[in-house]
Order: sequence, then structure tokens, then C-alpha cells
Amino acid sequence: MVRILVLHGPNLNLLGTRERAIYGTLSMDSIDSALTKQAEELGVAIDIRQSNNEGELVTWIQEAGSGFDGVIINPAAYTHTSIAIRDAIAAVGLPTIEVHLSNIHQREPFRHHSYVSGVALGQISGLGPIGYSLALRGLHEHLVATRRRKKTLSVSRRQKSKTK
Ligand code: DQA
Repeated sequence: MVRILVLHGPNLNLLGTRERAIYGTLSMDSIDSALTKQAEELGVAIDIRQSNNEGELVTWIQEAGSGFDGVIINPAAYTHTSIAIRDAIAAVGLPTIEVHLSNIHQREPFRHHSYVSGVALGQISGLGPIGYSLALRGLHEHLVATRRRKKTLSVSRRQKSKTK
């Protein structure tokens, strides 16, 4: 079974009440419930966590190296400041999708740069809560395809060594 860790960064616990014109009216719990349901349908095991603390997010990413196959992260404001989160993602080497509810490239200039995107498999920005759902679907397909490729490679290696 594919195992995916979903991380929400600072202030995302306030979704639903926070700057609704930008982030919408859905709460984090509603987003998480929809994601949990989708994961069940896909047969994916997910663990969803939120933290306002950079160090805690770094620790969770490090720990994901054993126990998870991929990460979905909305680093929120840490996107634009945290070399530590970028380094943790690079260190564990798990395929990671970066999600933003708003289109960070259309907003204030300080939000245009992401430290995370350079080490992410991809970035989804500006589609609202559906971005998480697309990230789950995309990451799941990526992980299944990678597993299939590895399996085919090891079978063909075994067959080759038998014929030697
Ligand atoms: C955000 C965008 C960030 O710039 C901001 O600091 C957030 C949320 C988003 O989901 O659109 O907190 O990551």
C-alpha cells in the first residue's frame, strides 16, 4: 500500500475564518475529511498533520524517510523563508508535491519565490482546496508507476542473470 504524509504549515489551522477572500470558506478539517475519503477510495494510507512550528515540520519530514513513500506539503509562509524545510525534503528524497490554495505567483512579490519548489516533484498553486485532491491523485499515480518500473527492472535483471 502507498503511504503518503500530508503536512499543513502555519496558520492553515485557521482556514475557514482566515482571509476568506483569499483562502475560501472551507475549514482545514473539511479539506482533511475529503482527502481521507479520497485516500480510502484510492487505497492509499495517509497521515495528515498541521503545525505552526518550523522545527516540528522539519522533524516530521525527516521521520517520513522511514514509513512513507511520498509527501504532500503546504508549507504556507515557510514556503518563502525556510531553507530548513527545503533541506529536509532534499535529505529524505521522497517525492514531494507542494500545494498552495492561492496562486502565490499572482500575489505580493515576497510570495513569488518558493524555497520548496526546487526540490519538489511539482507545485499546485491557485486552485483552492481541489489542489490537495489533485496532489493526492498525482502523487499516487507517480508512486504506483515508479513501483511498477522498479519491479519490471528487477524481473528483467533476474532473467538476464539466469541466461548468463
Ligand atoms: C499559502 C500561500 C502562502 O503565501 C501563505 O503564507 C499561506 C498560505 C496558500 O496556501 O495559498 O499561509 O501557502
